[in-house]
Amino acid sequence: MQKSIHDEILSRRTFAIISHPDAGKTTMTEKLLYFGGAIRDAGTVKGKKTGKYATSDWMEIEKQRGISVTSSVLQFDYDGKRVNILDTPGHEDFSEDTYRTLMAVDAAVMMVDSAKGIEPQTIKLFKVCRMRGIPIFTFMNKMDRQGKEPLELMEELEEVLGIESYAMNYPIGMGKEFIGVYDRYNQRIEQARVEGESHFLPLNEDGELAVEHPMTETSYYKQALEDVLLLNEAGNEFDTERVAKGELTPVFFGSALTNFGVQTFLETFLKFAPSPQPRMTKDEQAVDPKAEEFSGFIFKIQANMNPAHRDRIAFVRIVSGSFERGMSVTIPRISKTVKLTQTTQFLADDRETVNEAVAGDIIGLYDTGNYQIGDTVVGGKSNFQFEALPQFTPELFVRVTAKNVMKSKHFHKGILQLVQEGAIQYYKTLHTEEVLLGAVGQLQFEVFEHRMKNEYNVEVHMEHIGSKVARWIENESDVKDSMTGQRSMLVKDRYDNLVFLFENDFALRWFGDKYPDIRLYNLL
Ligand code: G4P
Repeated sequence: MQKSIHDEILSRRTFAIISHPDAGKTTMTEKLLYFGGAIRDAGTVKGKKTGKYATSDWMEIEKQRGISVTSSVLQFDYDGKRVNILDTPGHEDFSEDTYRTLMAVDAAVMMVDSAKGIEPQTIKLFKVCRMRGIPIFTFMNKMDRQGKEPLELMEELEEVLGIESYAMNYPIGMGKEFIGVYDRYNQRIEQARVEGESHFLPLNEDGELAVEHPMTETSYYKQALEDVLLLNEAGNEFDTERVAKGELTPVFFGSALTNFGVQTFLETFLKFAPSPQPRMTKDEQAVDPKAEEFSGFIFKIQANMNPAHRDRIAFVRIVSGSFERGMSVTIPRISKTVKLTQTTQFLADDRETVNEAVAGDIIGLYDTGNYQIGDTVVGGKSNFQFEALPQFTPELFVRVTAKNVMKSKHFHKGILQLVQEGAIQYYKTLHTEEVLLGAVGQLQFEVFEHRMKNEYNVEVHMEHIGSKVARWIENESDVKDSMTGQRSMLVKDRYDNLVFLFENDFALRWFGDKYPDIRLYNLL
């Protein structure tokens, strides 16, 4: 029986995995695909260390597995749900796109390397999820290795990220002595390295093993019982509403590599992860995913880096209704109507040819230059626009000039367009009006340089001025020239707002002490 569009929408679970490089995101993704039936063999992707991370890890999976996935969105069905996993490129592919992708998901899975704890890139991505108030599920990975104490890891969540946590399960032993997990949520023990019926062992009413087992004699089991008791008494309560608001993160301990705890995680995650959520328009109206009319917004534009193909793909998160190939949509920003004939859909399994996508899904539109990041596309007669995507605080800066001064016109045109498109951020120095570019990842500069040459025929010279701590100013009129210096450069952003670029956190603090009346703030 065919599902109604409403049921289709309700079955969607769209999320991203956030983590610091090497925490195990690729490995986890692969295991999830395996359970989703999208790949047959959940071996690990080998040899990644040797190559430069010029392309997404997922393309690596694609190459290794020979399966039909695109590098940006993976889709599979599990337990009656259609799961969309959006890639958040890290390593050298880290860029504003990584942040913006988080605008297009309804939930996030945070992978933590249990030996390393919460790492910098995780903190950055977490903050964006936090700002959106989306549910965040934590997977403490690599339990098959000796890592930090489980309670210490949970404390880190609260101390470093400021999010409360609830352990859905709790590890029994660690590293070579990793016996399994005490599954608080399902009231059972899940055994590591044991397949078949006894993989799960039941607990009795006192929360102890209900069957005789040698494990009960081990210090690891006793310790786990003690810790679980402590959590029961002094820890947070499981509260689905707080999970939904992103105030409480359910924590799972496991090992993606040895495939331990992944399936239980997936099943529990799918139970609590939300179906597609409404989005606000600029006029503060919520657009219901089940609304009849199609709507969506563009969160990423990917230019083809191959000069032979100048096409670009605009990634649309569908917010409401359904999409059909060939339909016409309006881009309200430019009041233009376009027919969507050339689209890409992201499917891990190409046996299913789907010409339709619904709220929660991601579609890729071939773009000849119509779209900008943040654009709304709507079907029917609607004309609203979704609220703007946030701008992110850049951390890296370059001073940029055209190698050939005769090309100055093209240079400025190219910059203007790439800035509008969201590929890079534009700043200029106050008196000399030199052009600076800001980015959150080095890749953005490389893409900029490449596209300036290929699309605007301008070779650029980029002088790296390094990483800076950028701060905007609430009371601009109180700022004086004398406050600037080697360690605190003053520039303007593309909207002519003043921005201080501090050499480092130390310089920022020094400035704060010296000029306490200047109210600084950062974007996300
Ligand atoms: P990433 O996408 O987050 O960057 O991480 P990725 O999955 O590539 O994993 C990084 C490394 O950590 C890989 O090892 C991977 O095998 C390992 N790893 C992932 N999950 C686990 C786990 O649960 N336990 C253990 N012990 N290791 C894990 P590598 O040496 O970089 O690559 P490989 O050659 O072993 O594949």
